[in-house]
Amino acid sequence: MLQHFFNPSSVAVVGASQNPHKIGYEILENIIQYNFRGAVYPINPKADEILGQKAYPDLMSVPGKIDLAVIVVPPALVMDVVEQCGEKGVDSVIIITAGFKETGPKGSHLEEALAVRARALGIHVVGPNCLGIIDTTSSLNASFAEGMPLPGHIGFFSQSGAMCIAILDWAFGQNIGFSRFVSLGNKMDISEVEIMLSMERDANTRVILGYSESIDNGPHFMEAARRVCQTKPIIIIKSGTTSAGAKAASSHTGALAGSDNAYTAAFKQSGVIRAKSMQDLFGYAMAFATQPLPEGPSVAIVTNSGGPGILAADACDRSSLHLTPIRKETADRLREFLPPTAAVYNPVDIIGDATEERYEKTLEVILQDDMLHSVLILLAPTAAVDAEAVAYSIVKLAKNADKPIITVFMGERGVRRARRILQDHSIPSYEYPEDAISAMDAMASYRRWREKPPRQYRHFKGDTGKVRQIFSSIIKQHRHDLIESEAREVLRAYQFRLPENRIAKTTKEAVLAASEIGYPVVMKIASPDVLHKSDMGGVRVGIENDAQVEEAFFDMTSSIRLRQPDARILGVMVQEMIPQGKEVILGITRDMQFGPMIMFGLGGIYVEVLKDVSFRIAPLSVESADAMIREIRSFPLLRGVRGEAPADIEAIRDALLRLSQIAIDFPEIIEADINPLLVCPEGQGAVAVDARFTIHE
Ligand SMILES: Nc1ncnc2c1ncn2[C@@H]1O[C@H](COP(=O)(O)OP(=O)(O)OP(=O)(O)O)[C@@H](O)[C@H]1O
Ligand SMILES: [Mg+2]
Repeated sequence: MLQHFFNPSSVAVVGASQNPHKIGYEILENIIQYNFRGAVYPINPKADEILGQKAYPDLMSVPGKIDLAVIVVPPALVMDVVEQCGEKGVDSVIIITAGFKETGPKGSHLEEALAVRARALGIHVVGPNCLGIIDTTSSLNASFAEGMPLPGHIGFFSQSGAMCIAILDWAFGQNIGFSRFVSLGNKMDISEVEIMLSMERDANTRVILGYSESIDNGPHFMEAARRVCQTKPIIIIKSGTTSAGAKAASSHTGALAGSDNAYTAAFKQSGVIRAKSMQDLFGYAMAFATQPLPEGPSVAIVTNSGGPGILAADACDRSSLHLTPIRKETADRLREFLPPTAAVYNPVDIIGDATEERYEKTLEVILQDDMLHSVLILLAPTAAVDAEAVAYSIVKLAKNADKPIITVFMGERGVRRARRILQDHSIPSYEYPEDAISAMDAMASYRRWREKPPRQYRHFKGDTGKVRQIFSSIIKQHRHDLIESEAREVLRAYQFRLPENRIAKTTKEAVLAASEIGYPVVMKIASPDVLHKSDMGGVRVGIENDAQVEEAFFDMTSSIRLRQPDARILGVMVQEMIPQGKEVILGITRDMQFGPMIMFGLGGIYVEVLKDVSFRIAPLSVESADAMIREIRSFPLLRGVRGEAPADIEAIRDALLRLSQIAIDFPEIIEADINPLLVCPEGQGAVAVDARFTIHE
């Protein structure tokens, strides 16, 4: 589909200019000077020839077929050119021109019209408002970037032209090459999804790197990313991490979510590695583009200085990597030539007077140990060591190595040339141990993601008819929030366990209800206007007898009347008290890009203080549900601490999967909380004692 963008046999530059300061000149010059092998047609009604190429007044005058058109005319003229492309049979167009959606409503309008017309003409468009495209294999530089990147195995896409320029400049400095380089611009047609799929098919691309400001179609992106990540790693830095949306929420889930959580969740579920900073992005790119993936999480650290070794070990501890103790056979072999003061248990400290020879011998032994899946080599430029010689030894040994070798030559003046040697031979070299460990951790986690067994999904048969009935009656009443009894019916329709519950309109009814349910009971105000009952004194737990029921009924109804005089009081709920449960929260919130998102966390009334939650995009797989549960900080509490029985984690997983099903079955749900789901000890299930849903038409 995108072949003509990367490997066209002919390119036309519409709006080619004779003025060297114009973009129309720079793009034509880039195409010509970097040895593009196809035909090049400058289109300019006022010129006969530009940069030695015969110019044509318009596309129709060009004798041959045109595979790719690069448009650099003012915005108002772009539609005409696209029409000509349709007539000329050009199916791939890069619109460099700015002045569309990014300028506001008028520009958006123009861009929408353009998109409709191009689609109708069967033309694919990259841009508008972009820097262009580069493919180092076909030597096509259809961009106004400064210079041609080195050939390499990184495919890069970016939503920001400026980021493209920064990355190109960085790459020159680091001797890092690219296979393909795409500035997406406004993404009017071609988005990161099509580009990722094209890079998956490109034999020269080993790792895909991206800068993203927004992903328009989340599910589409996740599906494509999941497929591509099976064979090639995708590393994306997503800007705009602050979550503005949270403020307006009525549920705890809505208050705690935010679009950035959705991106993090979507990336996790589709295998995309999220770079948290530009440093990460570059650092990960270096490692993934040049080194094999590690077989596992265990890392060997070799250093000639204690301090950096400890820093690296600390960074390992904070990651998913293991600083596996060196096994006896290997340690014995090291002892044969290392001084007695050396440490051989990981980190392997070969001491400050280590020479290149000692480095080489140590690495040879470490590389032969299959228990060690990747190697980090640290070097401080002591007087004893020739850093360049060590670099050459590493280059030599790396040739036959089948595990990733990562280096950190600390300092600057004493190691600059050595670092250059390593980079020139595709051995990643970082300035700080933390960056190196972060890259190694990303590689190990990606390998784990890729080796996961196929995802399993559960399907629950909910009474959707019942739920639909409830929702349509609420919409008819111009309401959006379900009252507690309605929320309970939705959960009941999906077989959630619920506590016995009665609504009492009078004290007498409340006492009767309590005696029918059996003490102790819980009492709660029943009012569609009281959002968080506890905040208003609307919940009483552990009521033991009739006298307490009467007192509680009076207290909470009068407290609500006092504190929220306009609240409609439907009565008081008398509820079976669930003993001894761990309180967790489950929730739904709808993300603009990725759709329904499920939240899990430590629940109860302090949920917004603790903020110990995890998110995943629905539909949840069994694995995702498990991962969400294990991801929260207080997971050990659920497993049981200080002699406590473990909670029924199976029941939590089951509840998460059912809630995910509800979110998929009913797109009208915009927010929902089950808080708390009281989780009983292992094997005894879980009970949803409080729930709320907010829906829209
Ligand atoms: N049936 C029950 N059995 C045992 N404890 C209960 C029961 N119902 C409520 N509780 C306890 O009371 C607390 C508050 O009750 P509930 O969640 O219904 O009120 P809320 O203030 O509206 O909650 P939210 O913070 O979700 O708005 C729960 O977190 C739980 O500790
Ligand atoms: Mg609650």
